[in-house]
Amino acid sequence: MMQKINEAVAFLQKQGIGNPKVGIVLGTGLGGLVNNVDISHSIHYSEIPHFPESTVESHSGRLIFGTMNGQHVVVMNGRFHFYEGYTFNQITFGVRVMKMLGVDTLLVSNAAGGINTHFKPASLMLIDDHINMLPGNPLVGKNLDELGSRFPDMSAPYDAGLIARMEQIAANESIELNKGVYVAWIGPSLETRAEYRFIKVMGADAVGMSTVPEVIVARHMDMKVLAISVITDLCDPDNLKPANINDILANAARAEKDLVKLFTRLILEL
Ligand code: HPA
Repeated sequence: MMQKINEAVAFLQKQGIGNPKVGIVLGTGLGGLVNNVDISHSIHYSEIPHFPESTVESHSGRLIFGTMNGQHVVVMNGRFHFYEGYTFNQITFGVRVMKMLGVDTLLVSNAAGGINTHFKPASLMLIDDHINMLPGNPLVGKNLDELGSRFPDMSAPYDAGLIARMEQIAANESIELNKGVYVAWIGPSLETRAEYRFIKVMGADAVGMSTVPEVIVARHMDMKVLAISVITDLCDPDNLKPANINDILANAARAEKDLVKLFTRLILEL
């Protein structure tokens, strides 16, 4: 594993990608942030040694290097989900590569269903904590001692300082930003009413199919993490309508402008 990571890192450094300090993982339908990046390199995943290839978004699946407000960033545009058939090592490979390139702060976005009935569609939720309900953990197996410890602490996976700054930015921009617990569910079938009820009692405010594996490896490597969910639909078990994928994508697009504004402002302060 370390050899694969090192080969990918060596390949990227040979392209002259510089020294990004901030890494960003963009969720499905949330690629618009890339328009705010002054791009120096845009590299197809298929060109990078050992990088998994995207199955769904054939046009994306790129690792993008450049600057935002003068800050050097690397963006994973196109992420990998467990439900697509990837292993946890594949899902998290890009985050490990980012760390070895010098990234110390990871910003993550995703689309999620709203469990908390106070949430509105197309609103944003700062992830305060998570529950891993995926059938595995990327740290299972021999520990990569070069990257982190066997039993990494998870008492506060999302950085309190970054959360406080983001809340201040949202207040300044008059953007409604809720805060809550994200649960990662296997998918790809959406949840039943009974499952939404179960998710609610377990203490989650939003449900999605990503993010938690990336955050676990990031914390293993002691990166600071901030993550935001775009609430694309409401998942109230007592008032559940059939999911409409077009509505979900439309709500992701509606919320994207605010999400981009928040990330862009935070990067300015890092
Ligand atoms: N579940 C329900 N609704 C959703 C999800 C999910 O995982 N992602 C986006 N909307």
